[in-house]
Amino acid sequence: MADTSHTAVLGAGVIGASWAALFLASGRSVAVFDPAPDSEGAVRAYIEQAWATMTELGLTARGDPSRISFHTSAAEAVEGAGFIQENVPERLPVKHATFAKIESVLAPEAIVASSASGLTLGQMQGGWSDPARFVLGHPFNPPHLIPLVEVMGNERTAAGVVEGAEAFYADIGKVTIRVQKEVPGHVANRLQAAVWREAIHLVQSGVASVGDVDKAMSAGPGLRWAAMGPTTLFGLGAGAGGLTAFCDHFTDTFNGWWDDLGTPHLTPEITQVLVDGLREATGGAPVEDLAARRDAKIVAIQKALRGRPSD
Ligand SMILES: NC(=O)c1ccc[n+]([C@@H]2O[C@H](COP(=O)([O-])OP(=O)(O)OC[C@H]3O[C@@H](n4cnc5c(N)ncnc54)[C@H](O)[C@@H]3O)[C@@H](O)[C@H]2O)c1
Repeated sequence: MADTSHTAVLGAGVIGASWAALFLASGRSVAVFDPAPDSEGAVRAYIEQAWATMTELGLTARGDPSRISFHTSAAEAVEGAGFIQENVPERLPVKHATFAKIESVLAPEAIVASSASGLTLGQMQGGWSDPARFVLGHPFNPPHLIPLVEVMGNERTAAGVVEGAEAFYADIGKVTIRVQKEVPGHVANRLQAAVWREAIHLVQSGVASVGDVDKAMSAGPGLRWAAMGPTTLFGLGAGAGGLTAFCDHFTDTFNGWWDDLGTPHLTPEITQVLVDGLREATGGAPVEDLAARRDAKIVAIQKALRGRPSD
């Protein structure tokens, strides 16, 4: 594996600032480029807040939050970095312009990973003369707290680069999966989209309120899914016969449910129903309060799961 003791973060908004915090916590130095005028202050404030949470999770023992530097160009920021995480806005011309600026100055062994949620690897590779050392490294927000990173390379990626990215992410405590085929939304966002689609359908067709649909998820399958994925869990749902027995027992049931699931699209009307339903469910609690509650629960779950296999 290349020397990744020095890293770079390009674009330090919601996702980049969080990656920077985690890279620092892992004992690495981080060079940041973000053209926003107030970026340095915002990133430092974010890291201060994230550090407390990461310390609670035992992630900062190797780290020093002062090992961060701010630069005036992407080319300057990537100089000497062994791993570069790109988090510029989700617009192809901005991504391409960034890659064009850094390609000629990268260290030969450096790996560049993009956080892109919607753009595909193939689309982004168009911004490189040679994308051999470029991969997808898609996190879940916030990357310093949620373990998952979806990693992808393809036939234009050099041998060992995907594995190098996976080794880097493992070293900073992430759980990686390999995306083997290009699809919009990669894997985890498609799973979220599938569940949210049916949540909206249930609300829209009057089966349950927004609050109760959310509760059905977080107090039921959501809690189980933090422990194990759906196929593993269903393999435990029919006793000693395992998954084969489960599928035998429930073939007609699931096929019937799938045929009955809804296929709503987001419209302004549906958005208003959801907004009203959420206000009712949360008593109108401000976004910051809900975010703090979410983070406290995620930290508690992470602490409880620490040291256990991630399946
Ligand atoms: N927000 C999420 O939940 C989420 C989750 C996973 C992945 N992502 C992906 O992460 C990437 C960044 O998203 P975000 O939510 O952090 O966006 P953001 O708007 O919060 O941050 C983007 C940052 O890039 C900076 N920027 C603009 N032009 C730049 C340039 N030319 N070079 C360097 N920096 C530049 C902006 O000043 C801003 O700080 C996107 O590709 C997005 O799809 C987002």
